[in-house]
Amino acid sequence: MNPQRYLVTSALPYANGPIHIGHVAGAYLPADIYVRYLRASGREVLYICGSDEYGTAITETARKLGKTALEVADQYHAVIRDGFAALGISFDNFSRTSRAVHTETAQEFFTCLHDKGLLHEQSTQQLYDPELGKFLADRQVRGTCYHCGDENAAGDQCEKCGKDIEPLKLVNPRSALSGATPEPRETKHWYFPLGDWQPWLKDYIGSRQGWRPHVLGFCESWFTEELRSRAVTRDLDWGIPVPLPDHEGKVLYVWFDAPIGYISSTKEWAAQRGTPDAWRDWWCDKEGTKLVHFIGKDNIFFHALLFPAMCEAHGDYVVAEDVPANEFLNLEGQKFSTSRNHAVWLHEALERWSPDDLRYYLTTILPENSDGDWKWADLRERVNGELNDNLGNFVQRTIKFIGQYCDAQVPVAGEFTPEDQALLDTLARLPGEVGALIEAYEFKRALRTVLAATSEANGYFQHQAPWKLRRDDPARCATVLHVCAQVCAAVSVVLGPFLPNAQTKLWALLNLHGITWDQAGASLLTAGHPLVREPEALFAKITDEQVEAEAARLTSPASPEPQPEPEPEPKYVTYDGFRETQLMTATVVAAERIPKADKLLKLQLDVGGKPRQILAGIAQHYQPEDLVGQTIIIVANLEPRKLRGEVSEGMLLAATEDEDVVILTTLRPVRSGLEVR
Ligand code: 2FM
Ligand code: ZN
Repeated sequence: MNPQRYLVTSALPYANGPIHIGHVAGAYLPADIYVRYLRASGREVLYICGSDEYGTAITETARKLGKTALEVADQYHAVIRDGFAALGISFDNFSRTSRAVHTETAQEFFTCLHDKGLLHEQSTQQLYDPELGKFLADRQVRGTCYHCGDENAAGDQCEKCGKDIEPLKLVNPRSALSGATPEPRETKHWYFPLGDWQPWLKDYIGSRQGWRPHVLGFCESWFTEELRSRAVTRDLDWGIPVPLPDHEGKVLYVWFDAPIGYISSTKEWAAQRGTPDAWRDWWCDKEGTKLVHFIGKDNIFFHALLFPAMCEAHGDYVVAEDVPANEFLNLEGQKFSTSRNHAVWLHEALERWSPDDLRYYLTTILPENSDGDWKWADLRERVNGELNDNLGNFVQRTIKFIGQYCDAQVPVAGEFTPEDQALLDTLARLPGEVGALIEAYEFKRALRTVLAATSEANGYFQHQAPWKLRRDDPARCATVLHVCAQVCAAVSVVLGPFLPNAQTKLWALLNLHGITWDQAGASLLTAGHPLVREPEALFAKITDEQVEAEAARLTSPASPEPQPEPEPEPKYVTYDGFRETQLMTATVVAAERIPKADKLLKLQLDVGGKPRQILAGIAQHYQPEDLVGQTIIIVANLEPRKLRGEVSEGMLLAATEDEDVVILTTLRPVRSGLEVR
């Protein structure tokens, strides 16, 4: 294939929370390196992304925060977009799936498949939460995995064994929303029969060249069984409405609409630049476009199988040429964990760290073929030893030397010695070698190749000792500095995809602009070319204190095996002491929020026929209306307290874990005012 255009996408992040550096390592930094390289080498490239704003994760967050789903999406779309911009992720467009262009595009896609008869309507049993009175999305069901026995498998995929789950087959299912045992009920949905596309998918995957072995292996593992049909609609109130009459309350499944977001984001890009039809050049020219999806490994199924089959079924759209999925990144030897705050959030890290330090370190540990591990002490070692002492130091001493002893102008070279020629040969090969590695998605090796060249150049500088030649052999000194200046110039080009800020700074020091990749191997600076006289350092060293502060920010222990908490000494209460605490059942009669107290709910209770008011810090976990009618347990003889001007006559019992709060209720309805023992 000889594409004219590269259409590059990064997984649309869920606008459900901020993103952490593990996400950045998976789908964004590698893609950015790739597109920056393609642009520098004169290729036509479009880099597309946006936020993924539907799905039950967002409605769940909204429910917990007492916000609307759109408010949550608005908030995190902005945080994520700004974080990417600050890190230098150079999207051509970053859209949102809640925009009208996406609704139209996703509905058109559905309608096209529907009208071609490629979707099947089917009545099925779906798990229904009798307590909440609604159907549960697959992810809202948990239970025991029937493949591996893990007790906390989600209803769409088991995180432990990675296998696909049919929610109705889960053993001991429970509603992740209410804890109730869900019951199967009938509902109608549209299905995409992925099994019909299995022969095509096998050919498609089989004919891909150079895919990462773990991605191919994952895809092939799906072909050992017949691919099951996928429901592409859901019973939810947040999502893109199914564009058919009589389908109120049904929306498109988020994994159906999200990848279509790549197309709608491209449409938005085209419209914004005043060429509304230009998106077709990218999506509908199957021979001329090379489509590459950058994702984390948890998204392989959707990008390597489902979306290509959907596009093939639709007929108008190009399918992915490659899906260079990354494996996962760990943090100090452990998985990232939002609930334990074992994470480095991108927007926060950028408040303390330069984008280049983050990009550099992250590139050196990209989980390309196996999981990677972010370690703050390792970041310091690499940034100090490699960026500062190797690359930064070489550039600094070369430009400074030329500033001091050559009137800040690239000196005239004499005849080159074999040592000079060896280094110049390294430079001549550098763009080709680094470019080939980037095109093969080997970003770590590509960056190492750049640093190997500056390391060689440092050795050359040391060995040639221009500070001695200056007195003993000025003409030779000039030649050596000329060669060193060429190193700086070549490096400034090949460094660009990895460290765009350093490239900008270095180009300012070298008085260079807009050099293309192909020019980088040749001699870029002619004798007499003016340089900055007193160069500022390109990078700064990292102190032990900075690293210690980061370690302290991680609340979980930085050891691979979490150590069990030592058993606390039991503190006994006497039987009589316990009997003094009156626990009672109570029925919630009414519940409301308290103005300006975003954590408190005011509950009106019936306790054995007597009214009672209590205040509880549960407003971020429960909607007032969900509590009415519930039987809860209260401490009935707690001394009354005033909170926010309101009296609280007791306390309700709830189980808490981290931020999560679950109110205790009785297993079956009972009268209020009963003693609890
Ligand atoms: O896993 C995720 O974060 C998804 N939001 C990725 C979607 S990628 C694409 F299909 F849009
Ligand atoms: Zn499993």
